[in-house]
Amino acid sequence: MVSGAPVCLDDFEKHAQATLPKMVWDYYKSGAMDEQTVNDNKQAYSRWRIRPRVLVDVSNVRTETKLFGDRISTPICIAAAAMQRMAHPDGELATSRAAAKFGTAMCLSTYSTTCIEDVIAEGKGAIPYGFQLYVYKDRQVSESLVRRAEKAGYKALYVTVDTPLLGRRLADERNVFELPKHLRLANFDATPSLTVSSLLDRRGHLPGQNDLPITPTEDDPAMMNIVLSATTDTSLNFEDLKWLRRITKMKIILKGVMTAEDTELAVAAGVDGIVVSNHGGRQLDGVLATIDALPEVVAAAKGRIDVFLDGGIRKGTDVFKALCLGAKAVYIGRPMLYGLAYAGEEGVLKVLELLNDELKLAMALAGVDSIDRLGPQYLIHETEETF
Ligand code: FNR
Repeated sequence: MVSGAPVCLDDFEKHAQATLPKMVWDYYKSGAMDEQTVNDNKQAYSRWRIRPRVLVDVSNVRTETKLFGDRISTPICIAAAAMQRMAHPDGELATSRAAAKFGTAMCLSTYSTTCIEDVIAEGKGAIPYGFQLYVYKDRQVSESLVRRAEKAGYKALYVTVDTPLLGRRLADERNVFELPKHLRLANFDATPSLTVSSLLDRRGHLPGQNDLPITPTEDDPAMMNIVLSATTDTSLNFEDLKWLRRITKMKIILKGVMTAEDTELAVAAGVDGIVVSNHGGRQLDGVLATIDALPEVVAAAKGRIDVFLDGGIRKGTDVFKALCLGAKAVYIGRPMLYGLAYAGEEGVLKVLELLNDELKLAMALAGVDSIDRLGPQYLIHETEETF
């Protein structure tokens, strides 16, 4: 436990570890298998070194930027993270208020514990919201979520493309993780046709989830996460993006692209942007760190679509490096959850403030006064260093 007020994002993490129920803490912090990618996401930033410039006027360092044409106060945005009411009773509402107060963008998870409409209403139109989508075998379920998000005023649809199946998170399996009984996956309340029994295979198992020692029961909202994961459309491919384009006018952002090849396909498919992401190391363990994948994706995008990044951002210098390498903005997942656990809305706000202050300081000390001036000239990879 940290004594005194948190002074960096790691302090929020230590506080969360000391205070959250073990099952919740494990769910939030875990990655797939032996968590090589979770750790590498963070460590990889330190392999990029900063080349600072001096005697630059940094008396007015500004972090304002634009997202989907809207002004935001910082390039640090809120990532889609499931089940935020496990961290704090206000959950996604608190996150939404904090994002709106700080003037940054928020992406809401499909698996939120507060519904699409209530989360955006809390922001009172102050900021651009995104909705994160999983595509299910039953396209009607996904389509109704897309329509609800657009109607409610969301600007962007983040289609998660790294999760045809759930990665194995060993701590969750050991804990037999489930959503606490008093919470619900709020976006599915209006999907009465989706019952647990309708999704079971002939043996009464959830397809793809035989390893989980859980007996699905009807009317158990805690089951819905597992159920819906088991019903993700594993055949989803680039052609299917045409269907999404047809049903929505929201910006379409692919979340989870890690290679130049897929960037080319994304551009050809006409999407508006991509998030370089490995799902915070929760999907395929051994995947390269997002900051290391970023340069090839940016090079392949050739400025035709926006490129964003998430994964392992814990310090202002991490944000600085991602922006120098071409990310238009970054998203934070776990740090936001730990802020929420610390003090709800105030905690998330404090996380955003601390991280943005660190970014400003990094910019000032490197001799850069605005976001659009950041570029690869301020970095060198350790493998290129000459001594
Ligand atoms: C996530 N992430 C995620 N992504 C997504 O597309 N849909 C989701 O429902 C979730 N849920 C979720 C829950 C938890 C507890 C975590 C930690 C993450 C992934 C998230 O959007 C983002 O990619 C990572 O969190 C970024 O890494 P950091 O910032 O957590 O290191």
